[in-house]
Formats: sequence, structure tokens, C-alpha cells
Amino acid sequence: MARKCVAEYLVYDTPERVATAAAELFTRRAQEAVTERGIARIAISGGTTPKRMFALLAAEPFRSEVPWDKLSLYWVDERCVPPTDADSNYRSANEELLSKVPLAGDCVFRMEGELDPEEGASKYEAALRNSFKLEGAQAPAFDLILLGMGDDGHTASLFPHSDGLNEMGRLVIANHVDNKNAWRITLTWPVINQGRDVVFLIEGAAKADRLHELLMGDSAPEPLPSPLIRQDTGTVHLLLDAEAGRRLPKLEMHGDAETGVLELTR
Ligand code: 6PG
Repeated sequence: MARKCVAEYLVYDTPERVATAAAELFTRRAQEAVTERGIARIAISGGTTPKRMFALLAAEPFRSEVPWDKLSLYWVDERCVPPTDADSNYRSANEELLSKVPLAGDCVFRMEGELDPEEGASKYEAALRNSFKLEGAQAPAFDLILLGMGDDGHTASLFPHSDGLNEMGRLVIANHVDNKNAWRITLTWPVINQGRDVVFLIEGAAKADRLHELLMGDSAPEPLPSPLIRQDTGTVHLLLDAEAGRRLPKLEMHGDAETGVLELTR
């Protein structure tokens, strides 16, 4: 039985507006989580798209509005490189955000890309189990998971044709990306699906066709990673710029964004 999921998307005219909307969402979800549970647990992705959002969160008004003292920050994935490497997702977030906000060091859960990939994945899984106090087959329920999407449809470090697509039991794995000849550490998509709110930030014309295929195409010959993200509460959100959302139907204005909703049955 195909699982139904609804993709709600907001298309903004510029990447800057996407970043502002993402910073507003990050702040709102963190405040809501702290109000409801006394703590906010958010997982961020790497790549270039989130950088503008990081910079906004590190500055006013967001810096004063985010409950940093009750926030735990995690990563969706990491390249298997040292944290000082130019490719490190941690380094990017540290430069743009962590070094500028009052996040307690023991609330920043870095994936240790400098370790052997399998060791790094196992250590991160243990850190998740400990910090979320998981038992048995429980998966962590992040309050917000921020994802990007590559031109090839990958998300997190779940790339097309990679073994990681088939992992259903573990929380965190080492995944080899053949076309990059590189190892990555990544949350598995059943963990991503458990997120209370799963939000894609996608920008740029190069992603418009793939996004159209993911959201509106017939079932792909091989399911692309991103559509496998079927948020268990049934709704996945996407914040898009005009170029990335170019081929999606626009239904109505919502503030300064054009919005749309699509039911995903694959
Ligand atoms: C990574 C990311 C990855 C990213 C996409 C989009 O480690 O590279 O987690 O999944 O979100 O590749 O990257 P851009 O934002 O750079 O387009």
C-alpha cells in the first residue's frame, strides 16, 4: 500500500527570502519545542543552501529569539573529513553560526568525520541513543530536521544507488558515495521520517526538473532518495526559491510566498 504523504511547499522570489523564512521556521520550532517539552532538538544538513540561514540566526533579531540555552543541535550527515576541512559540514556551521551564538558545547552533537566511517557512525548512533534516552528499536524524534536536495535527488547522504537507501534498522550509517569516491556519515531515512517537522530547503534552477520529477513525476525507475522521505506525520514541507520551484503549480499567495500542496503517493 503506497504511503500517502502531503508535500506543502512555499516558493519565494529570492534565496534571501528562503533563508529568512527558514530562520523564522527554525526559531518558531525551537520555541514551540521548548514550550512543549523543555528542550528543542534540531538536525541540520550541510551543503551551501543553509549557510544564509545560519548567518541570519547568528544575528539579530533571530539571535535573541532562539532559546539557545535549551537547544541541542545535531547533524543529518557529515563528510568523512576532519572538522577543520573545507568540506566539513561542521566547519561550515561553526563558522557561520556556532561560533557566534551561546550554544553550550555539550549540546552540539558533532558527527566525527575524522574517524573511520563505521566507527564515526556507530559513535553517533550511541550518542543519539543516549541523548534521546532511546530504548530498543525506538528512533529519535527530532523537533525539526532541515534537509537539502542535490541535483541528483539525494538528500542527507542518501545518494541514488547507494547501499544506505536500503538501511531500515540502524539510526546512523557510514554510506559510500561511489560517484564521489567518498564516505559519508548519515542519518537513515526511517530516522528522518520520524522528525516532527521535516523541511527541505532547495534553491536554484538546476534542481527544478528533479524537484518536479520527485513531487509530480511517475514512479522513478529507482525511487530517488528524497521521495523516500515520507514524514511519518504525513506532511513534508519545502521552502523553495523561484528557480527551484519553477515547474510546480502555484495555488495561492501565503504572505510573500506562492504556496502549493501535492499529495505524494509513491
Ligand atoms: C551534504 C548535505 C547534502 C546537501 C545537498 C544539497 O552534506 O552535502 O547534507 O544532502 O543538503 O547536497 O547541497 P547544496 O545546498 O549545496 O545544494
